[in-house]
Order: sequence, then structure tokens, then C-alpha cells
Amino acid sequence: MRDGQPNPVTRLADYQPPAWLVPDTTLDVDLRDGHTLVTARLTLRRNPERADKPEDLVLDGEHLELRSLTLDGRELNPGDDYRLDGPRLVIPGAPDHFTLTSVVRIEPENNTALEGLYRSNGMYCTQCEAEGFRRITFFPDRPDVLSRFTTTIHADKSAYPLLLSNGNPVDAGEEQGGRHYATWEDPFPKPCYLFALVAGDLACLSDTFITASGREVALRLYAEHRDLDKLDHAMDSLKRAMAWDERVFGREYDLDIFQIVAVSHFNMGAMENKGLNIFNTSCVLAHPDTTTDAAFERVESVVAHEYFHNWSGNRVTCRDWFQLSLKEGFTVFRDQEFSSDMNSRAVVRVENVDFLVNHQFPEDQGPMAHPVRPAAYQKIDNFYTLTVYEKGAEIVRMQHELLGADDFRRATDLYFERFDGQAVTCDDFVACMEEVSGLDLAQFKRWYSQAGTPVLTVTDDYRDGEYRLTIEQHTPATPGEPDKQPLMIPVKLALLDGQGRPLPLDDQGRAETVVILRETREALSFQLPERPTPSLLRGFSAPVSLRYDFSEEQLVTLLAHDTDGFCRWDAAQRLYFAALARIIDDGESAADQLPRLTPVLERVIARADEDPAQAALLLGLPTENAVGDRHTPLRPQSVHQAVSGLRAAIGEALAEHWWRLAKDLEADAYQGDGAAMGRRRLRRLAIAYLAAAAGQGALDADQVADYVARDFDQPDCMTNALGALRDLVHNGLAQNGRLEAFAERWADEPLVMDQWFAVQASVPGPDTVARAEGLLAHPAFEWTLPNRVRAVVGTLVNGNPSAFHAPDGSGYALFARALKKLDGINPQIAARLASGGARLKRLEPALADQLGAALRDIRPGASANLAEVLDRILGA
Ligand code: ARG
Ligand code: ZN
Repeated sequence: MRDGQPNPVTRLADYQPPAWLVPDTTLDVDLRDGHTLVTARLTLRRNPERADKPEDLVLDGEHLELRSLTLDGRELNPGDDYRLDGPRLVIPGAPDHFTLTSVVRIEPENNTALEGLYRSNGMYCTQCEAEGFRRITFFPDRPDVLSRFTTTIHADKSAYPLLLSNGNPVDAGEEQGGRHYATWEDPFPKPCYLFALVAGDLACLSDTFITASGREVALRLYAEHRDLDKLDHAMDSLKRAMAWDERVFGREYDLDIFQIVAVSHFNMGAMENKGLNIFNTSCVLAHPDTTTDAAFERVESVVAHEYFHNWSGNRVTCRDWFQLSLKEGFTVFRDQEFSSDMNSRAVVRVENVDFLVNHQFPEDQGPMAHPVRPAAYQKIDNFYTLTVYEKGAEIVRMQHELLGADDFRRATDLYFERFDGQAVTCDDFVACMEEVSGLDLAQFKRWYSQAGTPVLTVTDDYRDGEYRLTIEQHTPATPGEPDKQPLMIPVKLALLDGQGRPLPLDDQGRAETVVILRETREALSFQLPERPTPSLLRGFSAPVSLRYDFSEEQLVTLLAHDTDGFCRWDAAQRLYFAALARIIDDGESAADQLPRLTPVLERVIARADEDPAQAALLLGLPTENAVGDRHTPLRPQSVHQAVSGLRAAIGEALAEHWWRLAKDLEADAYQGDGAAMGRRRLRRLAIAYLAAAAGQGALDADQVADYVARDFDQPDCMTNALGALRDLVHNGLAQNGRLEAFAERWADEPLVMDQWFAVQASVPGPDTVARAEGLLAHPAFEWTLPNRVRAVVGTLVNGNPSAFHAPDGSGYALFARALKKLDGINPQIAARLASGGARLKRLEPALADQLGAALRDIRPGASANLAEVLDRILGA
């Protein structure tokens, strides 16, 4: 525990290749009641690439009790032969080639940090990325040490009939005392962060996949027996992902078996361990009765994401953790493309952009801002961020755009071929793009090293048949990076005429062009017969914040006519933000906005049946966080008043339309295809508008509540049951014991109970803090279950600003107490939740003071993980 002391910092500039390599690792893991013995035999060989020949062999190890250590069969003595130096084992004067065998004792039962080997819900599992393997045995725990693993697991046979590890099963058998063992061999050298082990009593869904070259791969998905009926969607998604990666990236699976295990206690979404992915149950289990449509989509994309890592991450891995986006940004790009091909491309793109703009942009503009390839970190766990993942994916997407699909594919082929079996860098990736295309991407690479959201300011002018566009780029300073350099920015654009049709941009009559910005300020000129409406940043061609003084008329034109899904959505968002700004800043009322907004909304509604999912995206108001992030200082209560007031006003004014949509879109029977999901989404939006109006007394509350409750009482799927419950509870409509009934009905379904907790933690308004305190005291609340903590604390802090920022500071008090409590259980989860305080400096002073005081209070004694985040937020 550190009191106000700074954590040690790791810097990219200090990178050195490993001093010793470990070609082979043989693990023997003996799972016993109360403890586990791990025997590790490592073959060590001096790395010829390290010219300085360090004296000491240094291995990482944390929370390990060393029982014995032998070097080429000779028992080593502490003091003389080795020393334990904090989280390291040091062997001075180690030979160039030798075998080191260690025996350590660990306690997976008491591992609540959920890193390394831990017991969850009666089973054993592992999470090693980023630095969890050092909690299993002493090892050079860094991604550039690749080793061939052979793993033998021993356990009680009746409690743990299933014993799994990476690679192929090569041996198994009975042992004395009702025990058994299994040996797995992974032929592919891998860094230890991709190691995995599972022991448990699980149900299995089996299938097979025939690869493009005709090999048969066994597919096995494991979950608790009661969840066996929730694995079909993940299996379908997996098979589609395998076929897609062959078709689109030419990547074939390489082992004879691919396994996924569902685990209830898990820090993240999922993990791509070689041949043995381990998943948070929330990212793999799906059944219409218990799982919402949004969660179905998430399962499809996470299953694909982890599978795609087999090449982008496992076959070609990262040299060091600064390169994390090399695998994560690239793999997110791959999973986004997969989801686009499996679903509606326009809808997926808007969802991805919405997520980036409303979650990654705030990160990039606040105290947590860091480059996609950071230059320094204290705890690497804190850098599994939206910046590394989502902005990293946009950087890959821009390269795809710059090269075009064919060259991009040639470049990724080259990358996979050249670096197969190696640990490489983001520079190596970009070098393949340059080599194939002949492009010079030196300036482009600043996207990796420079933090912050670039702002593009566009001005225009039309005179004598000439339309001139001026684009200026500026990236505001971020912590530690005062001066920013201009970036290479692809801006896709079209120019629309008065009827919203694209004007020809050149002699060939092209309707769309991509301008590559390089300078701080660039001017463009077009010969046009009329002053156009610019359709800018089409497809969201770069992760930038666009400023252009659109007239309301232009926005209406874009929303009505643009063929680009992003630009239509962006136009709608700008209309909503403008209306909300008039309420928040200019004292106008919600009703004042209706004459301007309702005709626009009616036009979208009139075309809604063309693509109901897209209509739902266009008709939905921005979240309170999104609105709050556009007003300084942040006054969460006035933002809440404005958003809820406008929602109710639109609900009332267009009530006839919402009623008609709600009824027209009723389904006779449940269907799970994309079209049915789109209709459900639009219908739920219509009902949410009605419920909002009814909640404010603008519509007959009983009539609306009766209609809403029907979806709850005779649910055809969880999307409708939960949506109905949320509409009732959030709008104060009579719910007549339905919350309690829901909890009773789903008491044995943890993922559904997470939703039950989240529905309540997201009720807007300061009173929800007291309600959340009640939820924390509920018998079903568990501090050791990350999904449950996220459902209550995460929802309150990140998804409910008018409650979290309660004027009396009670939300902050809950937050600080929760962080302190969690930090003693699971520092990774504590640190991740703590970033919910990142808006501190944007808050109105009375709130900022209270939040700052609450966080300063818990800084002494904080773990290294939590301390790093608190120090950034507090500006220490
Ligand atoms: N590599 C995993 C993924 O697919 C995430 C693992 C994160 N682990 C952590 N300790 N932060 O995205
Ligand atoms: Zn990933």
C-alpha cells in the first residue's frame, strides 16, 4: 500500500529485448482444496539480441509462495543462489543455457482480484493478460517472450471432470484418491499472457467447422449445465466469424480444436487465450427469454473479436504493452467489419461512431487522455481503454480508407506472413501498409503517438460559381502534451444541391471525394452552379470533432436526403443538441422547440419502415452525458431537466405517431433476425416517448402504463420485458409490484438480475442515490462479482449523471466508499470504475469541490491501479 507515493513508471523509450528466452515451458498444476501447487520447468537460453549480456536473470512473480527452486537439477538456496526482490526473483550469474524448475504454492480460492488462477462459482479458471501469469508461476511475464507450453492439470475427478488448457489434448488418466489428470500441448509458441487453464464441471455444446483447406476443427463451448441452452447464438456467431475471416482476411484457424468457456466472475468482456478463449458469461450466453437484442449483438461481436485475435494478437503478437493497440485496435476494426457484414452496415457504423464520439472523445479530452500508443504507464491494466480499442480501430480504418480495400488486404497479408510467430510493433504494421501502397505514412503515424481529439473547423464561401471550403485542424492540449502537430486526416465529402442531390465535384462527375489534409489550414475550391449543403466527414472518415456552422435548413436537408448514414445521424444529433442548448443556455422551454423539431421528426417517421433500426437511431435524443459534455461548466441537473423535458414534449406532440408505431410494430410471435430486432428497437423507442410524456402528466398515465405493462406481463422476449419494466420504473408509472415479481422470476439468472439492478440504478434524479444504497445492501448484491458491481455502481456513476451528481454530494460519497471497498477486493475493477470521476474539472464549482474532496479522501492507501487513476483525475 502506498500513501501518496508515486507508482513506478514504465516507459516505451526504455524498451530492451529480453535477456533470456524460454523456448519451452512445462507446467504441472495440482489443484487441491484450499491451495494449488504449480511446478514449472523452464528451458532458458540467453537472447543473442541482447549484446550487453546482463548478469542477473530476473523473473516476475507475485503472490507466490516459493517452495523449491532447482537449476539443472541442483537445488538453489535463498541468499546465495537467488533472492526474492519484491515482485521479482533474481538469479545472479545465471548460465547461458539451463533448465529452471520451481514449485510454488498459490491460493486460487482467495484470489478476488480475478487475475492469474482463481476459483469462480465452483470452477477454476485463469486471466493472464496483461500481467496475471506472474501470479501463477515465476516467469519473464512480457509479451515478447514466446514459449511452447505443455500443461498437465491434476484435480478431483468428480468435482472437476473437465480439465482444459491451450492447444491439443495429448494425455489423460486416473490418479489415486478419486483424482485425475490431463495434459495439453500447444504447438504454437506464445507469450504467457495467452496461457489459460480451466477445471470444472461444465456442460458442452459441440460442433465442427471445416476450414477452407478442408481441415476439420472441433468447436466446443462450455458453460454451467443450466446454461447449455444459451450457447447456440455464440456457436453460430463463431462459425460465421471463422468463415468470414477466411473470406475477408484469408485467415484460417490453425489448431484441431477451438474452445470457449463461460465464466461468471470476470474482469473484462473476454480473453483470446490460444485455442481456449475465456468469456464473461455476459458476452457469450444468449437466449431470447433472458437476453436483450443489444446483448445478442454484443455476443456476436465479442465472439468474433476473440476469435479474430487468433491471428491479430496470437500468431502475430505485441512486442511490449505499449503496442497494445496493434492487436486491439486492429481486432476491433476486424470485428466491426464483421458485424457490418452480418447486419446493416449503416446502422453498425452509426452505433460504433456514437460509442466513439460519446465515450472515447470525453476520455481523450479529459484527465485520462493518452495516445493510442502510450509512452508511459504505471499499471498497464489501466490502458485497456476506449482510446486503445476504439480510436485504435479508427486509425486502422483510416489506413483501410487511404489504401483502398485491395491494397489494405495485400498489406495485412504481408503483415501476417512476415511477422508470423513474432512479437512486433505498430510501426511494423504501418510499414506493411507503406510497402504495399507506396504511400508515405510518416505524418499519419502521429495518430498513434499524439493524444487528444483533433478539431476540424470548416468555413465556406460561395461567389461567382466558385465554392471555397477552408479546413483548419487543431488538436487541443492534453495532460503532459501541450503542443500538437498537424495530422494526416482523410475527409470524405460530398456537396448537395437544394434538393439534397449530390453535385458533380469534377469533370468525371464524381459525387464524393476524399481530401487528405496535412497542413494546419487547407483551402479547397469547386466550380458549382449553386451554393451547396456540404456533407462532411462522410462515413465518419476520421475520428475528429467537426465544427461547421450548419444552418438549420442545411441540417434538415442532410437528415432528409443524405445517402450517408453517419451524416444523416450527425445532422439529427446537431438539431437535438441545438434545441437542448436553447433550453439550457437561453432559457427557452421544451415546448418552444417543437415547431422546429416536430416537422423534421415526422419526416423521419414517415420513412421509418425503410429501415426501422436506422429510424430509431435518428429519432433518439442524445444521452444526458453527451449533452453535458457540450456545456461548460457541467450542470447535471439542468441537463437532466432539459433532456427529460424535451423527451416528454416530443412524446406528447407526436403521441399519435408513437401510438401508431407502437401498435403497428407489435409482433405476433418472437423472431430473432435483424429485421425483427430493428422493428423492436423502433417500437421500444416509440413507447419510451409515450412513457416519458405520461410520466410528466402530458398523456393519460393509466392508459400508457396499461399498454406498457402488457409487454411485461406477456413477454415474448427479454428486450420487451425489460424495456417495459424500465419505461414504468423510470417514468414513475404504476408498476404494481412488477419490480419485485421480476426479481423473483429471475433470481436464479445472474445476468438478468444484473439488468434488474441496472434498471433501478439508472432511474434519473438525486433520489436514486438512496435507492442505490439499498441495492448495495440487497442480498443478491456481491462485491466480488464484477458484473454486479458494474450494474449498480457503474450504472450510477457512468450512466446516471443526475443521480451521481446529486447536489448534496451523496452520490460522490457512495462512489468513494465503493471504490475503497472494491480496491481491497479487485484493484482493476476499482480503477476502472474510478475513471467515472473524470469529469471532475468540468463540473460547476460546488460539485467539483465535493467530488474532489471525496476522491482525495480515498487516495491514501489506494492500490497502484486505483492510485494512477485518482492522481490523473485529481491532477496530482
Ligand atoms: N485481450 C482482451 C480483449 O480481447 C482483453 C483483456 C483485458 N485484460 C485486462 N487485464 N485488462 O480485448
Ligand atoms: Zn481484444
